[in-house]
Amino acid sequence: MERSCHHLKTLLSILLFLCFASSICVQAHVSGFDEQPLAKINIEKTTLDLCDSASIVARPRVGELLGLQGEEGTEWVTVDIVNPKPSSDDWVGVFSPAQFNVSTCPVDDPKDQPPYMCTAPIKYKYADHFDANYTKKGKTSLQFLLVNQRADFSFVLFAGGLSNPRMVAASKPLSFTHPKAPLFPRLALGKSWDEMTVTWTSGYNIDEAVPIVAWGMRGGPRKISPAGTLTFTRNSMCGSPARTVGWRDPGFIHTSFLKNLWPNSVYQYRLGHALLNGTYVWSKFYSFKSAPYPGQDSLQRVVIFGDMGKAERDGSNEYSDYQPGSLNTTDQLIKGLDKIDIVFHIGDITYSNGYLSQWDQFTAQVEPIASQVPYMIASGNHERDWPNTGSFYTGKDSGGECGVPAETMFYVPAENRAKFWYATNYGMFHFCIADSEHDWREGTEQYKFIEKCLASADRQKQPWLIFAAHRVLGYSSNSWYAQEGSFEEPMGRESLQKLWQKYKVDIAFYGHVHNYERTCPIYQNQCVRWEKKNYKGALGGTIHVVAGGAGAHLSQFSDMIPKWSIYRDYDHGFVKLTAFNHSSLLFEYMKSSDGKVYDQFTISRDYRDILACTHDSCDATTSAS
Ligand SMILES: [Fe+2]
Repeated sequence: MERSCHHLKTLLSILLFLCFASSICVQAHVSGFDEQPLAKINIEKTTLDLCDSASIVARPRVGELLGLQGEEGTEWVTVDIVNPKPSSDDWVGVFSPAQFNVSTCPVDDPKDQPPYMCTAPIKYKYADHFDANYTKKGKTSLQFLLVNQRADFSFVLFAGGLSNPRMVAASKPLSFTHPKAPLFPRLALGKSWDEMTVTWTSGYNIDEAVPIVAWGMRGGPRKISPAGTLTFTRNSMCGSPARTVGWRDPGFIHTSFLKNLWPNSVYQYRLGHALLNGTYVWSKFYSFKSAPYPGQDSLQRVVIFGDMGKAERDGSNEYSDYQPGSLNTTDQLIKGLDKIDIVFHIGDITYSNGYLSQWDQFTAQVEPIASQVPYMIASGNHERDWPNTGSFYTGKDSGGECGVPAETMFYVPAENRAKFWYATNYGMFHFCIADSEHDWREGTEQYKFIEKCLASADRQKQPWLIFAAHRVLGYSSNSWYAQEGSFEEPMGRESLQKLWQKYKVDIAFYGHVHNYERTCPIYQNQCVRWEKKNYKGALGGTIHVVAGGAGAHLSQFSDMIPKWSIYRDYDHGFVKLTAFNHSSLLFEYMKSSDGKVYDQFTISRDYRDILACTHDSCDATTSAS
């Protein structure tokens, strides 16, 4: 027997959304970001179709709290749905904060009615995705993994698919025990080798509590270090959806600088907030190993990749498959973490694309990695690009974020975090990280930095000189670069090639192109060595590597394989460098699916091989004795 379902004429007080407007959406849906799954939801077009015999109930029930320990950043929740008129278009959106007030919906023209809803959910799931019987029975249960994002949650059942959502039922709110808890620490190297920075997110502003880190060597005295606090507002966003349906309060982002570290030593730490009433709120304990002294001879292992993004372990946003390899990469890194010393994620970090809630989701996903080893990032188009905001490219790939979340959520040892280029050392490695979203060509501020950074490597002590940028400033036989005929980002290597050659950069890494490719050692666009596995003596050129396949949908290669391209893989993966000493480096490319090595080479050489004259890198000499 089919039960009837009538529309409610008035809103019940328990409803989450205060709706006094017509059902016609007054603002056009933001388009152009279809890659981001949340952008498929036409939330501002939501109408009410409330049904008194439909229900949506989340367990734990109201009154029960998530994360009883107060230290847990994530928790599974079961959501039971009953709908007398089920359809395959039905979906559940997770909203946080649960209580939403339409008075905050921006309306361009005061004469216009505000929409019912103007904030995107933090995730969604189709009601029948894991239960085909839903459309027959009208009931099902869905599992959601919630991340503690400093506010309560509600679950809303919609009919009408993502493009014409009709709200059928809403749950009561659900909260974590400590919504403001300090969570998701991410480590990064500081400006000097003996400094580690730790950045985390909390709900405590500085007028409520003092952010601190308690830390020290295991068994040694405990130190307390203060932290600085940053945040940003809707007004710091440059456009929509970041300023509109994608906006979500990012909380408070704290960074502490742990200084005067002993080299290669294990430290324990935990994050805390000293409340004004004299009590403390603490995170759980974490640990990290400090960096080696620059030039120090010890085993040093570096992982590099780009474009990982995030994915939902509970299968949410399932029809998008936006970053299908992301969880595999994350899990392989976690599995091999005891053999990794530092990670570089060279741009396209979350692909939040203006949906700010996704930054918390990403920091939760990488927490097991970033809380233990420095997680160094570079800026990509999905972090930075927005028209008329100073980015080199005028596209809309950041979804209006224009770099602000990336520059705040993660610390990098840049002079100016809005200009995302920096130098950093890790023992025998010297890294020059460029920002491909700002002009890098000769005569620019960034070009001067890159030259200074490359020139500052003392190769006797730091033989392994690495350049990295998000876009392919070097070489890639990806199809779209091949179609342009350049096999590079337009103007990519025009200025930089002479620097790579002059300063004898060993390996240059890029992301942006979602696959793996390795070149021969290149000098003036030519292979200077045909050896593929064991390079002995002077390298004679720079090996260019695309390692952008860490998570996002894969990029096609061109049919034509250039001579310099010696290994290509259309799959998800990442790269690991192992420096055994000053003379021996191992390069490995692993697939994210199984963690096995599919491409590798070694470099074996002495200091005199680096000093040896190579074409235009020859230093001046005199015949005088
Ligand atoms: Fe990119």
